[in-house]
Amino acid sequence: MKITVSKLRKMKQEGQRIVMLTTYDAPTARLAEECGIDLLLVGDSLGMCVLGYQNTLQVTLEESLHHCKAVRRGAPNSFIIGDMPFMTMHASERDALLNAARYLQEGGCDAVKIEGDSALAPTVERMVHAGIPVMGHVGLLPQHIKTAGGYRISGKTEDSAARVLADARAMEDAGAFAVVLECVPAELSRKVTDELSIPTIGIGAGPYCSGQVQVVNDTLGFFNGPKPKHAKQYANLNDIIQKALSEYAAEVRSGTFPDDEHSF
Ligand code: KIV
Repeated sequence: MKITVSKLRKMKQEGQRIVMLTTYDAPTARLAEECGIDLLLVGDSLGMCVLGYQNTLQVTLEESLHHCKAVRRGAPNSFIIGDMPFMTMHASERDALLNAARYLQEGGCDAVKIEGDSALAPTVERMVHAGIPVMGHVGLLPQHIKTAGGYRISGKTEDSAARVLADARAMEDAGAFAVVLECVPAELSRKVTDELSIPTIGIGAGPYCSGQVQVVNDTLGFFNGPKPKHAKQYANLNDIIQKALSEYAAEVRSGTFPDDEHSF
């Protein structure tokens, strides 16, 4: 059955865990849809996973929309969430609304995700009022690494835990249909999940969330760089691709490819 925001809330109520995965291109989106992934996120992790950037800050709105369109073409029946890039929702509420609308009108998305604390709640409220479903994202905020001084686990102290809970509540109160909890202690995400009626989707947030999200390149072992502690690798595409490409190069060089089977 096609996922809707009300179905997601029902899944939480019934204790049915929600599966979310990032995808950035049509072939991966097609496979994710075929495998029954509930939610596809065109994350701004696009920057590191596909575009070769150092972090998410360089991803632009146009780049993000370009990949949303590809994901929609690959997964015509999936619930797709576009991740609003750095500074696309801060300059003014008007800019934020118009940028968010582009994800639905041009990107083919069903919803947007926005990273940020309770200060963004009025913007979320305006988006929801305009008919744009919004997923919040609290805890570790990769778009804030420059001000935070790096990627830091959130909610480890009492004060910080209270802030994470307050930010998540603010998203719910503003009308968000779900909230991502990134890199927070498992007990805190249990508390947030218990106190909110909307689903929580965890990444590095332990087992008690209503669902989980992972970055597809981590899941498939298709990245260069250290694997985050929260990521579980289910395949090793790096090795598979390296082996295949080396074999191809060797066969071209030795003249064994193309053979009769691959010639006209
Ligand atoms: O961009 C992304 O991949 C994300 C997930 C980590 C939730 O925002």
